[in-house]
Amino acid sequence: MPRAVYPGSFDPMTNGHLDIVAAAAELFDNVIVAVLNNPDKKSLFSVEERMELIRASVKAYTNVSVDSFSGLLADYTRLQTADVVVRGLRSVQDFEAEIPMAHMNRRLNAQLRTVFLPASLGVADISSSLVKQIAMHGGALTGLVPDDVARALKRKYHN
Ligand code: PNS
Repeated sequence: MPRAVYPGSFDPMTNGHLDIVAAAAELFDNVIVAVLNNPDKKSLFSVEERMELIRASVKAYTNVSVDSFSGLLADYTRLQTADVVVRGLRSVQDFEAEIPMAHMNRRLNAQLRTVFLPASLGVADISSSLVKQIAMHGGALTGLVPDDVARALKRKYHN
């Protein structure tokens, strides 16, 4: 099976993202988890911090690597000779937002297919933004993020 890129902001990595990584690692020979470096978007974690947290979370998967990219995903996938983009779907709203991106990415790179993977039932309610709100107010992060991410969130908000 082809090489796949799983792109995102990952600010920070959640158990929902990890669920998609696990599925993608089974389906594809190689999976690159690619963090978007977007200077226009205010993020809690730097790109390096996000990559480090992802590396710690995916170390069990020998066919998964972590990288970052700037600019267009269509160009980055070409550079990586990856023909598949993986995106997770939690809801109809996700689907509606993702479909135009999938079409546009294929317009920009005719080789590129987007494969949507449904979030597992136990993690379909998790998002990085909700996790950050919970962490900010000192709520329980159990089951929402990997342990390293929970510790990093506590350091950010409560140190
Ligand atoms: O985790 P996110 O924020 O939902 O990920 C969105 C992401 C990074 C996949 C998307 O914004 C993206 O691919 N950005 C790169 C710029 C780009 O290629 N834009 C055109 C998409 S049609």
